[in-house]
Amino acid sequence: MYYSDEIIEEVRSRNDIVDVISAYVKLQKKGSSYFGLCPFHNERSPSFSVSREKQMYYCFGCGAGGNVFTFLMEYENYSFVEALRYLADRAGIDLPEREYSDEERRRADLKAVLLEIQKTAAQYYYVQLKSPQGNAALSYLKDRKLSDDTIKAFGLGYSNKYSDSLYRFLKTRGYNDETLVKSGLITVDEKRGPYDKFWNRVMFPIMDANNRVIGFGGRVMGEGKPKYLNSPETMIFDKSRNLYGLNRARSSRKNYFLLCEGYMDVISLHQSGYTNAVASLGTALTSGHASLIRRYVQEVYLTYDSDEAGTKAALRAIPILKEAGIQAKVIRMEPYKDPDEFIKNLGADAFEERIQKAGNGFMFSLQVLEQEYDMKSPEGRTGFMREAARRLTLFEEEIERNNYIEAVAEAYHVGYEELRRLVGKVAVQNGLAKPIEKPKSLRRREKEDGILQSQKILLTWMVSSDKVFGQIEKYISPEDFTDGIYREVAGLLYQQRKEGEIQPARIMNAFTDEEEHREVAGLFHTRIKELTSLREEEKALKETVIRVKTHSIDEAARMLDPTDMAGLQRLMETKRELQKLHELHISIN
Ligand code: UTP
Ligand code: MN
Repeated sequence: MYYSDEIIEEVRSRNDIVDVISAYVKLQKKGSSYFGLCPFHNERSPSFSVSREKQMYYCFGCGAGGNVFTFLMEYENYSFVEALRYLADRAGIDLPEREYSDEERRRADLKAVLLEIQKTAAQYYYVQLKSPQGNAALSYLKDRKLSDDTIKAFGLGYSNKYSDSLYRFLKTRGYNDETLVKSGLITVDEKRGPYDKFWNRVMFPIMDANNRVIGFGGRVMGEGKPKYLNSPETMIFDKSRNLYGLNRARSSRKNYFLLCEGYMDVISLHQSGYTNAVASLGTALTSGHASLIRRYVQEVYLTYDSDEAGTKAALRAIPILKEAGIQAKVIRMEPYKDPDEFIKNLGADAFEERIQKAGNGFMFSLQVLEQEYDMKSPEGRTGFMREAARRLTLFEEEIERNNYIEAVAEAYHVGYEELRRLVGKVAVQNGLAKPIEKPKSLRRREKEDGILQSQKILLTWMVSSDKVFGQIEKYISPEDFTDGIYREVAGLLYQQRKEGEIQPARIMNAFTDEEEHREVAGLFHTRIKELTSLREEEKALKETVIRVKTHSIDEAARMLDPTDMAGLQRLMETKRELQKLHELHISIN
């Protein structure tokens, strides 16, 4: 079902965001905004803001944000159309039956259908598990000590022995073959015809953070290969951006996550009260996972399998987490293989002790390193200490490096000063006396991040003050913003200004995806450093304008064809304009 921009906008503007959100979150007025405890992450002091002026919300803690539609999509797990219907109803607006389509809406609609198929399949598998043909599967789960409540909470199911029973069921719901293939649950074979991807397996629905089923894992009961079969990636299932169990862990009261490897680990941890457990979906941890985690917590306890593969995976995960600003600790589960086995054998309290004893990620990597040396012989120990010293040189910040030197000295019974000298010596030998240079690509990325940050600051300023917008407008145009969402949003803002009124929340109607809503909301809510005086603030604004313009000119110069004389002329012209900008005065008040 497709709706026009006009009707969407009418529904939005007739539902005041403060009123709508107040029904869910206790809000208090502070200055021009309302503040409350963020419903999307755990916090004790309010960083969730709602603005009546902008008709948007934004959480300074976790970055959740958007307009009134986004809020319901995130809070109630509504699809866009569901949120629209709900709000139309609330405002007493009759939605027209059917309206024109465009490519974007079609995509959004296909997504909605794919989500519906996954949900229908999950319900089907659950019913199968509870029916007579699911007996063996149910006793398999019972043998693995899962309670009825747990089975229900995780929506576990069973795909029966027929190779096309889900297909036939979905057909009765009217889906066409093409869409079913896109769902990843059905394969169409030229000779065999359509058949189910999963059969005779225990089914684990995979949900996104908003409790929507996006894919499945299916386990053989007993031995057999492959042990787990997983849904392929689809339009709605991106393995590197979802974590199993996150839908439940995000509302746990702990300020860290337990990160493990398997479906069963997550489930048995949750069953034992560790509701903050998540797992990456049978793939190595990616930076996408890490930034997803960072939305909710700043610390992660790794409880990967204690075998060699698990240890290697943990060693790889630690720097990825660190890069995202997450502290990693490692839980040892010896003599057991994984949290599931550990808890089955020693119980939940014993696991709590292991959590308390968890070691820091770097120290863990040294424990692993120890195994390569004969720690009983002097040569072995020396070799080990040299390698440990080399790794210590990799901490760029002196305070951090010294803290680690101290920890290593204590753990391996060597003198702090001696170890510090050894680290210094190794650093010189390796030509690392100065802090190691970051790889170029990383530095370039940082620079790009800096420019994007400046553009965001500018956008925030523009939506916050009409006066500022009026002055900036003369020097900066939408083309000066980086291609993609920044430029698109800037273009829409300029257009609104031309038409007479800035309505940031309306701009979101152009985007249908929650992730995009979040990003756009971020563009309008950049935290601008508190500056002490108006003069300083004006200076900062001017510098931001110059920075954005300079970058845009540099980019244009980079792209310019050297034989394009007219283009060259224009570029020179803009450069002269830029010079003038330095003398400019932008006034805020
Ligand atoms: P494990 O082999 O450790 O499985 O794989 P597990 O979770 O402990 O399972 P149980 O206890 O034997 O039932 C860890 C994770 O790796 C992925 C799955 O996500 C699994 O949970 N995996 C493993 C696969 O995707 N395919 C496989 O064949 C095996
Ligand atoms: Mn296991």
